[in-house]
Amino acid sequence: MTTGAAENAGLVVRGLTTTFDTVRGTAIAAADVDFDVAPGEVVGLVGESGSGKSVTLRSIMRLIREPGHVSGRVEWRGRDLVSMSAEELRRIRGSEIAMIFQEPMTALNPVLPIGMQIEENLLAHMTLDARARRARALELMNIVGIPAAERRLHEYPHQFSGGMRQRAMIAIALACSPKLLLADEPTTALDVTIQDQILKLLLELRDRLSMSVVLVTHDLGVVAATCDRMAVMYAGRIVETGTVAEVFARPHHPYTRGLLGSVPRSGTSRTMLQSIEGTPPSLTNLPAGCSFHPRCSFATDICLRERPPLEPITSEARRAACFHHELVAKAETII
Ligand SMILES: Nc1ncnc2c1ncn2[C@@H]1O[C@H](COP(=O)(O)OP(=O)(O)OP(=O)(O)O)[C@@H](O)[C@H]1O
Ligand SMILES: [Mg+2]
Repeated sequence: MTTGAAENAGLVVRGLTTTFDTVRGTAIAAADVDFDVAPGEVVGLVGESGSGKSVTLRSIMRLIREPGHVSGRVEWRGRDLVSMSAEELRRIRGSEIAMIFQEPMTALNPVLPIGMQIEENLLAHMTLDARARRARALELMNIVGIPAAERRLHEYPHQFSGGMRQRAMIAIALACSPKLLLADEPTTALDVTIQDQILKLLLELRDRLSMSVVLVTHDLGVVAATCDRMAVMYAGRIVETGTVAEVFARPHHPYTRGLLGSVPRSGTSRTMLQSIEGTPPSLTNLPAGCSFHPRCSFATDICLRERPPLEPITSEARRAACFHHELVAKAETII
């Protein structure tokens, strides 16, 4: 592969499978996950709590620890992140690839002032002198809406509120203008004005740097306003993918249909995922066949016996894992 072709490849995830050995057996938290993110593309990852969204992002970043086990292929610009040396991975993390964690406290260093944490990242990956680093740290804090940045630069994470910590996390992640951003519910704890500001910033970076983004969110308004494509996860698997317009207009998986519920078709108002009747299955004891069948009104015998593959419907990138996807797409009533 030439350099150009490798760079154009963006992120390629194939057969990513992450399991955890627990006292109740092996939990399959991510199963056979396939997706691509092209340079400059924003892909939304949605699904109810426990469906494997965070595990997928952490697996891509190689942040799964024992008793977790990851297999499959994760390529970034033609380089395999799974087999890459720890040293090479360390260089890429925080510079080319950055992650915004769902729990900011776990990612922030409790004994280092926030300003230092931003500057550390700049020091590790960019050639800026001390004055330029400080200026950039202040600029980033202003961008993410941390007031009185001059003073707060010297404060520690425990002096920040939850929302402010999340902003600090975003500032650290964006410090080196990454080429790939894995953003796990980046704006959930923030009020709508700051949320809009941060999403606008992400889209600006996307345009300016051709940054690729994987955006995990529960907010369908955010998906509609921000993402180009989306992938829907259920019980560790991607069950539907397509452009946001395609999936919103005509979901082909009963689970997606349920999630979308009565989504307003326009506007960016906050529209959370609908909850669906029934409970998610136990990951250590998944139902045979399609994992969704116990909650599905379209299920027939085959769904109880066989797992539906994630297959192309109308194009390579428009896929659904449902034996009855044509019926689902046509059905008028919401399950
Ligand atoms: N270290 C671990 N040991 C055992 N199970 C784990 C571990 N980490 C995650 N899991 C399990 O993997 C499953 C998927 O978790 P994950 O955090 O990816 O869900 P999620 O889709 O991000 O949910 P949420 O929307 O609540 O953030 C969960 O059932 C979780 O309990
Ligand atoms: Mg999560």
